[in-house]
Amino acid sequence: GKGAAMVTAVAYRLAAQHKARQKILEALKLSHEQLLEVKQRMRIEMENGLGKETHAEATVKMLPTYVCSTPDGTEKGDFLALDLGGTNFRVLLVRVRNGMRRGVEMHNKIYSIPVEIMQGTGEELFDHIVHCISDFLEYMGMKGVSLPLGFTFSFPCQQTNLDEGILLKWTKGFKATGCEGEDVVNLLKEAIHRREEFDLDVVAVVNDTVGTMMTCGYEDPYCEVGLIVGTGSNACYMEEMRNLELVEGEEGRMCVNMEWGAFGDNGCLDDIRTEFDLAVDELSLNPGKQRFEKMISGMYLGEIVRNILMDFTKRGLLFRGRISERLKTRGIFETKFLSQIESDCLALLQVRSILQHLGLESTCDDSIIVKEVCAVVARRAAQLCGAGMAAVVDKIRENRGLDFLKVTVGVDGTLYKLHPHFSTIMHETVKQLSPKCEVTFLQSEDGSGKGAALITAVACRIREAGQR
Ligand code: GLC
Repeated sequence: GKGAAMVTAVAYRLAAQHKARQKILEALKLSHEQLLEVKQRMRIEMENGLGKETHAEATVKMLPTYVCSTPDGTEKGDFLALDLGGTNFRVLLVRVRNGMRRGVEMHNKIYSIPVEIMQGTGEELFDHIVHCISDFLEYMGMKGVSLPLGFTFSFPCQQTNLDEGILLKWTKGFKATGCEGEDVVNLLKEAIHRREEFDLDVVAVVNDTVGTMMTCGYEDPYCEVGLIVGTGSNACYMEEMRNLELVEGEEGRMCVNMEWGAFGDNGCLDDIRTEFDLAVDELSLNPGKQRFEKMISGMYLGEIVRNILMDFTKRGLLFRGRISERLKTRGIFETKFLSQIESDCLALLQVRSILQHLGLESTCDDSIIVKEVCAVVARRAAQLCGAGMAAVVDKIRENRGLDFLKVTVGVDGTLYKLHPHFSTIMHETVKQLSPKCEVTFLQSEDGSGKGAALITAVACRIREAGQR
């Protein structure tokens, strides 16, 4: 009768809507062939970054770090470390011991950097940093002692030395004026002098990937790669000096900060970027830049999800077709949210309550859809990251002329550590794309701060040996 016809009509409409959503999500699902292609393109961009003739134009910069060895356990002393560029700004005191009591002991304090300071003037930013250091020294009762300092500065820097780093461009949420093109060690020293309160001996500028590799290298000698999947994403690894055409010398190895976040900035990933990626990029602080990072890291995934949900809603495929002011608000989905919503033990009712918490009224069907969108976006991120990593480990293997390579990757970052599926999917992808490598992933505890101290310790050990 009439009732049955109506039920059929509803069922038909629901099926059509489901199909429409799946069609949109299709563009975010990558095949094995596409991932292999991403791996191969990454390899090409790596070679471009390393080559003398191609470096200037290259998007993946492959920056020399002047870190040439992993720790050997003989380093010791007390060091200060700064960690700028991740979720938090931290000041650390690190005690490194050798011999029988070999190990690292740390004290640290977290400081917030208000958005006005991240995006104000460089002087304000560095004055704030020095203010925090001063507070920390006071707190530790250490005013007046001058310790060697390692500066973890997680942005692309051109280095000609361990203790000098010219900021090429800000990434992630930073945009302070007057810093690009400047040596950040100098900016820090100038701010210290302005304060006229204490002096510091800045020994090393270190990228967080490098700090993470060093920290894991302290425990595992196979660790020759560092990976960050947090607010931003990037990797570093030990490259042969002969391949680093920008640096004199042919012997041994040097750690290269890839700055792989910029992969795709020359358009080489355009065929896999979706309208949602373009929308996120356009409204970011650095349009056109860090395109790979914007498909992978915590700062952007929530925005991709939000853009998809808006598109679904506009088409009447979600939230009963009503776009709330909340849904139009940039940045409502933090990384935390993506991890929570995909958590396996979460009942749908809890998904609904998370959405409600964000101010989004949803039905049970809505929450299933939101969860699926989160899963598709996170899976793509993990696979892309895995494709990049596959390029790195295969490059190391080929460098050494090996049929098989065993290597450890030191990893840090909130997305990698907190998301319930990201790491598993990434590991699987690396395995599929680089079958000739056995890759172990080692999570670092407090990688970037500790690593900066270890690098400083190694540098001090070498410096002291040189003075003898
Ligand atoms: C951004 C920075 C890079 C850093 C990464 C992870 O990509 O440019 O230097 O390593 O974020 O924090």
